[in-house]
Amino acid sequence: MKAKQARLDRFIRRQLNLPQRDVQLLLARGQVCVDKNVVNNGQMIINEFSHIVVNDQVLQALTPKYVMLNKPKGVVSATKDPQHKTVVDLLGPGDHADLHIAGRLDFNSTGLLLLTNDGRWSRYLASPENNISKRYRVTVEKPLNEDYVNAFSEGLFFAYEGITTRPAKLEIINDYEAEINLTEGRYHQIKRMFGRFQNKVLALHRLAIGPLALDTNLAEEQHRALSEQEVANMLHHSE
Ligand code: URA
Repeated sequence: MKAKQARLDRFIRRQLNLPQRDVQLLLARGQVCVDKNVVNNGQMIINEFSHIVVNDQVLQALTPKYVMLNKPKGVVSATKDPQHKTVVDLLGPGDHADLHIAGRLDFNSTGLLLLTNDGRWSRYLASPENNISKRYRVTVEKPLNEDYVNAFSEGLFFAYEGITTRPAKLEIINDYEAEINLTEGRYHQIKRMFGRFQNKVLALHRLAIGPLALDTNLAEEQHRALSEQEVANMLHHSE
């Protein structure tokens, strides 16, 4: 079992099915280690990635994982799919069972996709109040103009959810291409925004999430682990 945020003594009690008195004795005798340090304080708050050993018995030893993938077209942003290849299939052999996707991309969208087993990190990224921007390159069917820039920065009302989209910055690159910055991720959001202008999205590529840009030398279908610094930078970033 994994401990989310929990008190150390309660976690040990549950794991070993011991009375509180016995847990206190283990702690007092220095028989409990958290992240390789002897801990006597049962009130210590641990999380799912704390390594916990009691008398040489490992109770929890999960390593946090953070992966950047360059998603190609025609792959599902899911961990399992009965029909199609998934982004997890692209990671190849290894134990990926505990990974989830931090911000999906549609079947035909490409670019930066993040996978992790750290639920707190992915929730932080997804939460609109943290203002983590997502930058996309978009190619559309009909020519763009300033009306799009204004409408996107004012926000569009989505009747289905009953919400107005947060201000989004659109930078027109040429008649058919633009870069767009969003700080939320509603279902098919970009396609629906251009849909207001009856303009079809032909290609959509995610370039960056917050301070993390897709590596230019990471080929489609390839992935790499994030560095500790990259993981931490996400939590200290806001637009
Ligand atoms: N908006 C979309 O419409 N599709 C994506 O994949 C991402 C954002």
